[in-house]
Amino acid sequence: MISLPFEVPWPLSFPSSQTEEKDSFDDLYGEVKASSHPWKRSNQLDKLLSKPMSPHDSFDFAILGDSEPGRFWIFRKLFSEPAVFTKHLLSLRNLPLDFMFQLGDMVSRGTLENYRKFFQTLSSEPPTIPYLTVIGNHDRSRPNGRSHSKLYRSFFGQKTNYFFDRGPVRLIILDSSRAKITRAQLRWLNLALNTPLKKIVLTHMPPMSLRFWNDIPISCRGGFKKGSEEFIEMMARHKVDRVYTGHIHAFAVCDYKGVRYVLTGGGGSPLFPSGVADKFYHSLRVSVSPQGIKDKVSLLSGENFYIPEGKVFLNKFQI
Ligand SMILES: [Fe+2]
Repeated sequence: MISLPFEVPWPLSFPSSQTEEKDSFDDLYGEVKASSHPWKRSNQLDKLLSKPMSPHDSFDFAILGDSEPGRFWIFRKLFSEPAVFTKHLLSLRNLPLDFMFQLGDMVSRGTLENYRKFFQTLSSEPPTIPYLTVIGNHDRSRPNGRSHSKLYRSFFGQKTNYFFDRGPVRLIILDSSRAKITRAQLRWLNLALNTPLKKIVLTHMPPMSLRFWNDIPISCRGGFKKGSEEFIEMMARHKVDRVYTGHIHAFAVCDYKGVRYVLTGGGGSPLFPSGVADKFYHSLRVSVSPQGIKDKVSLLSGENFYIPEGKVFLNKFQI
């Protein structure tokens, strides 16, 4: 018989995790919901729009792309740096920005525990400017296939398609998190684009039929397929000034049918191979004025560059 140098309790008990100590899903949900409250879109937009602006005014805002840490440890190990999202938040802190966007995929999968961690991170370096979000596929209950967005909507607001006017521009947020744009969304988008203001569209996934992210016209990984052609045609017809997308963890610019598309997926997610040449962590600072729109890319290293006007392929730059 083996004798143990200590007394083993019976029945065996193990320390429970913080989550397991909660009485129920409802308790944890209540806690996460309370911590998400300040970040609800209506609160953030109220804060923003309480400072009115005229169409003659100018302002800057920031965009942070995908920041979910990666579902698989091997991707985190091989293609990630730690705490990039927090570093981005810190780098934006003292800039004269009007507001900022998170362009989707803030969590690896839309579970309660993942949102709890996300709100903890966000609250550790809380943005001092209004913080707005675009839903990504990973923010849903499952990133691919059948899924729902109940948790996301309960934290940020029911509407995942919305728009608002700020100074000389209308900003339109389009939900592409189900890897498609429906006919109903296209009808809504067509109405939302009917404005004399400049037009910016923010949507998580790029349209899949846009295959010009590189200097050779090959397809890159990811994007929404259904509604893709119609979306591109609509952007051209309404002469949209910018379309900002994420989903692919990289940086690229594409001018197509008179519309500039900017892929900005460098908010902190693993930079794994995606078919796009330029992969680096960055945030985007967008300057809007009655004269036009300028995009400044800020790398984590502190280097910056403006995206030039005209047809460009950024992988030719020395960055
Ligand atoms: Fe995504």
